[in-house]
Amino acid sequence: MFEVVSNDVLAPSLHRMVVRAPRVAASRKPGQFVIVRSAPGEERIPLTIGDADNAAGTITLFIQAIGASTRTIVAIPAGGFLRDVAGPLGLPTHIEAWGRVACIGGGVGTAVLYPLAKALAAAGNDVTTIIGGRAESYIILKDELSAFSKEVLVTTEDGSMGRKGFVTAELADLMANPDTCPKAVFAIGPVPMMRAVAELTRPLGITTVVSLNPIMIDGTGMCGGCRVLVGGEPKFACVDGPEFDAHEVDFENLFDRLSTYRGHEAADCKLNRQ
Ligand code: FES
Repeated sequence: MFEVVSNDVLAPSLHRMVVRAPRVAASRKPGQFVIVRSAPGEERIPLTIGDADNAAGTITLFIQAIGASTRTIVAIPAGGFLRDVAGPLGLPTHIEAWGRVACIGGGVGTAVLYPLAKALAAAGNDVTTIIGGRAESYIILKDELSAFSKEVLVTTEDGSMGRKGFVTAELADLMANPDTCPKAVFAIGPVPMMRAVAELTRPLGITTVVSLNPIMIDGTGMCGGCRVLVGGEPKFACVDGPEFDAHEVDFENLFDRLSTYRGHEAADCKLNRQ
């Protein structure tokens, strides 16, 4: 059993949960994830390890309550317990001293981006962070990212905070100036956003990395649930990723696979509300 140390709401339906998991905290690296179960028989949910405190033996998870299982998890208060926290899983982020990098987070993807951006800054990179969301209430971790980013640029679809529009507009501006053009770009968020970033950087051949979030079941390469197409070859996001070269990812295939169970999920939510 894994104790929930704290559980707070960061944005609509998005919780930050600190969980006591000393062995995971001691061994995790940026980019890795855990698979969480709230109780025996419940669905297994993959969650990126947002941060870790080795001394306290805790990890930080960011959880978007979008289905029945994630709603059950975020309903566990501080002092409650998760049944399973398995990990760390997946390959750590490849960190290199590129010099100037852009880190782009969309919606809850900003939470997944956070440990990666922090590690890139710690490796001596100049990090420009671009975060986007539907509205101001969906912009998360701005202050936390500002602590190590050279600058944090914000975009919102409704213009309620920062520049009105999408993160790609800020990235295009950075790329247009040789003094600010990044040597590498890391993008994490909705599939259309990651695909748009990949298309923007492709003509200049800028190294671009995305973190994929397909459906996962076992998280160990056994079930095939997380299969994605990269460079025309099937890969398992749980063991070969979750980060991949954005210019090689088949985003259409990913989008189709993510849509497969949307109807079931909506039906589950409806049943749970009744
Ligand atoms: Fe089963 Fe990746 S989650 S193979």
